Amino acid sequence: MSGVNEIRSTFLDFFARAGHEAVPSSSLVPKNDPTLMFTNAGMVQFKNVFTGVEKRGYDRATTAQKCVRAGGKHNDLDNVGYTARHHTFFEMLGNFSFGDYFKDRAIELAWTLITKEFGLKPDRLLVTVYADDDEAANLWKKIAGFPDEKIIRIGTSDNFWQMGDTGPCGPCSEIFIDQGPALQGGPPGSPDEDGDRFLEFWNLVFMQYEQLEPGLRNPLPRPSIDTGMGLERMAAILQGVHSNYDTDLFKALIDAAAHAVSRAPEPATMASYRVIADHLRAASFLVADGVLPGNEGRGYVLRRIMRRAMRHAEILGAREPTMYRLVPTLVREMGQAYPELMRAEALIGETLKLEETRFRRTLERGLSILDSETRDLKAGEKLSGDTAFTLYDTYGFPLDLTQDALKARGIGVDTEAFTAAMQRQKQAAREAWKGSGEAATETVWFGIRERVGATEFLGYETEAAEGIVTALLRDGAEVKSLEAGQTGLALVNQTPFYAESGGQVGDTGLILAAGLKVRVTGTEKKLGDLFVHHVSVEAGTLGLDQAVELKVDHARRKAIRANHSATHLLHEALRQVLGDHVAQKGSLVSPERLRFDISHPKPIEADELARVEDIANAVLLQNAPVVTKLMAVDDAIASGARALFGEKYGDEVRVVSMGLPVDASGAETDRGRLKNFSIELCGGTHAGRTGDIGAITIVSDSAVGAG
Ligand code: ALA
Repeated sequence: MSGVNEIRSTFLDFFARAGHEAVPSSSLVPKNDPTLMFTNAGMVQFKNVFTGVEKRGYDRATTAQKCVRAGGKHNDLDNVGYTARHHTFFEMLGNFSFGDYFKDRAIELAWTLITKEFGLKPDRLLVTVYADDDEAANLWKKIAGFPDEKIIRIGTSDNFWQMGDTGPCGPCSEIFIDQGPALQGGPPGSPDEDGDRFLEFWNLVFMQYEQLEPGLRNPLPRPSIDTGMGLERMAAILQGVHSNYDTDLFKALIDAAAHAVSRAPEPATMASYRVIADHLRAASFLVADGVLPGNEGRGYVLRRIMRRAMRHAEILGAREPTMYRLVPTLVREMGQAYPELMRAEALIGETLKLEETRFRRTLERGLSILDSETRDLKAGEKLSGDTAFTLYDTYGFPLDLTQDALKARGIGVDTEAFTAAMQRQKQAAREAWKGSGEAATETVWFGIRERVGATEFLGYETEAAEGIVTALLRDGAEVKSLEAGQTGLALVNQTPFYAESGGQVGDTGLILAAGLKVRVTGTEKKLGDLFVHHVSVEAGTLGLDQAVELKVDHARRKAIRANHSATHLLHEALRQVLGDHVAQKGSLVSPERLRFDISHPKPIEADELARVEDIANAVLLQNAPVVTKLMAVDDAIASGARALFGEKYGDEVRVVSMGLPVDASGAETDRGRLKNFSIELCGGTHAGRTGDIGAITIVSDSAVGAG
């Protein structure tokens, strides 16, 4: 029977033969849509192609797209584990026509694939169409030979697909399989349609409109096709099982989990294994796409997913971090189809281990509080919001984890009181802030920070992205818009612009939209995680809530990256030549040059400088990749990473390593396999390989005083 990998390639090959471009999955973090938390369908990367804004070299495409539905409009998190089919991460197989073919060819292709390639029996299949879509109904009659009762008309949102509140959309036709009377459930549109018997596995969307805002819909320039088949469902169908979790891929993950906790799954514990298998996929793919666990936005959703899985590992008896041990199995199963998983394997493992280590520290204590606080509660009663908040705030229990832990006993949580407790704490923090001297002049940022949240920095992964303008300032006060000729400050919900820190200057570039051109002359950080763009509007009006495109000046960023990596090489070379006492005191990393400040008790001799230059360039010429990892601070320091003395680091740090060790003549030494030439804690952006730096030349040195 077909394995998941085979089904995926059968689908893609079929559409490639039918003239479709096989396009790689896009990132789970949508670069082209700031309104979406995660990519939730195959069409997301083509959104602007459907509306005609973006042109590509093809008008038919096919993809296997990574999707996450765990936040925002499509959110399945709470159900995962307890049903046969819910996932936070899944793969959507799709074929797309951008103004090329429409309903007839779409239905014909779908029918050929499922009956000929996949060999599904036509008498087990049935479809739905949007209530007034006679055209689609007639096509199904003609192409599949279906009688009327197998073409069910549905007038609800089930048969009208929308990606989010705005974007391309249209009526759809869904294809179902009847899994036989042994399973409960009625056909679509019947009162018991939610049962398992009739299973929807493919959604053909006839893209006809663009939703601009609630209630306002425009026709698309060219009617198009967007389809989505759940790979996990198709695998279950073709493998003759009723749960996605019984397919080959999930069995391998569940086996790995069982092995890791030394316990075989039983009916009573099955939900926990499913949660672990599902969340392992979501967490790993998110990390591979640059999301890291955090307390806001995407990072927080990732943390919730991770912690929910870790909690279930604990339920299964795990007493040590477990999730990271499953990563090799996932990479073996899916790395071929998604090479980014292989590339990020080490980072995924470390991130999971770090998060689980930290979570375990507080889990026990939190659970015992939960236990004593709910001992006297009966089914139908609620845990107090204050306790839920303490668990959240002090013990790192996301609200849904607390809810999940009480679910089996039928106990709920007073979520209103939880939210109120959260508000009270924010208010207290704000008051505490006001009292702190010079910072008071910058209180405007605190209000903004609370309203819009941390900015998501996308700049490690990309130099261009879309965002929504969340705040604008002129002369220190908030405004609704900035007009042509005006300068001011702009915040966007997510940005690829690096904000000045760690010596590296902020990015410059452009902010664009139809009729709008804004120059970004610099980027700085406020309150640690608000990225503030210094802007000068050259044409049009920059408005609040506007969707804009952000483009970092690529040539400048490239030069900055080279200079930042050069700084690291120089640092280590100085240490080797002048001695271990050399410590970094500061630096400037700009596109034109770098400056590196160190403490050293006497002037540096010319021949010393020449040796420093030689060593740095010898390592540069190795042209080794610059590798970035996320680690716990203590582990990073233990690994030999250099940190800036007196600098404050978060609990987790980026560790940037490059080059192999060299001896005084610049030749590689045999310690090479053990340790890199340079290992530093660093949040900056770096060259891809040391050779990208070009060459390092020391043009001057000077002293600022004794030492
Ligand atoms: N975009 C459609 C869906 O997600 C195909 O169901």
